[in-house]
Amino acid sequence: MTPPSARVPPPALVEPPVLAGGSAIHEALALTGRPDVISFAGGLPATELIDADNLRAAYDRVLSESPGRALQYAGSDGDPGLRAAIAARLSRQGLPTRPDDLLITTGAQQALALLATTLLRPGDVVAVEDPTYLAALQCFAYTGARVVPVPSDDGGIVVEALERVVATARPKLLYLVPTFRNPTGQTMAGSRRREVARLAAEHGFRIVEDDPYGELRFRGAPVPWIAAQPEAADRTALLGSLSKTIAPGLRLGWLRAPGTLRRACLLAKQALDLHSSTVDQAAAARYLADHDLDAHLVSVRAAYRERCATLLAALPRVLPAGSTWSRPDGGMFVWARLPAGHDTGALLRDAVAKGVAYLPGAPFHAGPADPGTMRLSFAAHRPEVIEEGVGRLADVLAGTG
Ligand SMILES: Cc1ncc(COP(=O)(O)O)c(C=O)c1O
Repeated sequence: MTPPSARVPPPALVEPPVLAGGSAIHEALALTGRPDVISFAGGLPATELIDADNLRAAYDRVLSESPGRALQYAGSDGDPGLRAAIAARLSRQGLPTRPDDLLITTGAQQALALLATTLLRPGDVVAVEDPTYLAALQCFAYTGARVVPVPSDDGGIVVEALERVVATARPKLLYLVPTFRNPTGQTMAGSRRREVARLAAEHGFRIVEDDPYGELRFRGAPVPWIAAQPEAADRTALLGSLSKTIAPGLRLGWLRAPGTLRRACLLAKQALDLHSSTVDQAAAARYLADHDLDAHLVSVRAAYRERCATLLAALPRVLPAGSTWSRPDGGMFVWARLPAGHDTGALLRDAVAKGVAYLPGAPFHAGPADPGTMRLSFAAHRPEVIEEGVGRLADVLAGTG
């Protein structure tokens, strides 16, 4: 055996990309599992609203009726029944879609990674609304792309600001979560969606429209997808997910993209994981065929409406004078901004000591961060638990304003 002194050390790991406040998020999310902490931090759907009995029945059926197919390798583009069910759902909702327009992915997160792999090279520019989904920023950072923040407000990305970024930075890609955005809960107005589609056509950039929350609308009328705007139809990839509507543990999402882009993502997926879990896809397809997801979502939306209202009603009693917050029409998140002088990252340790957690807003920013921002998820807790958690937050914030 080679003596330890003669051993050559193995090569170093590739340096992971550095993200603002990246480790703060890991620390905060680790706390979501502590039973003594009421966590508003994670983007977890309510566990008790997951339709576990009917999912178990769907798994039972596929494993007893077609175990060979459910447990075997399969094609990379995904279970035909599942693609057909999702295509029919999108078509019913106003976006004509064929099963072959879809690629089933291991969560919408994998769809993002596939798009980043197929579209981005070091130095390419990605424009994002600021703040935006943290794990998308991580995904883009791994490619070496340069992420350029675009200011956004209650109505979504500010089109004039996007025009300036397009003229100066020439982005290859614009990443958006137009409906109930993570982290702010805000929704992009229909007029802005049309403007963004027009800009993409005029300037030749692609759009990634990430929509895991759109089905969780508890107020108001749906706003048409950017993918449904004729100008941008040939350059928009729409991402969806079963995580927030059925269960995140399925790890199933999809990508709807024009032919050449979809095929490029399919090849990348073959290299990455061959295909998403056959049995999970088959069970999800069975579940969608045997059960009325819309009926199930009626109760999920009602619960989230009540939870959101509970949180919003409590915030004026809790947050320091001068604070502002979003008023989402759906999804899972409220975004609050405390007045100048507050630092939600620094307050988190005290909050956890008092049994409550949230996510500081800084890591969601691709540009300069406002240290007074925080993301609160209302989805996972019943109203009485939200009241208790907000009471604990009041103790943390008392005397800081
Ligand atoms: C905006 C956004 N995109 C994608 C994802 C990933 O979803 P999935 O569980 O389908 O991978 C999330 C999860 O929270 C999200 O908020």
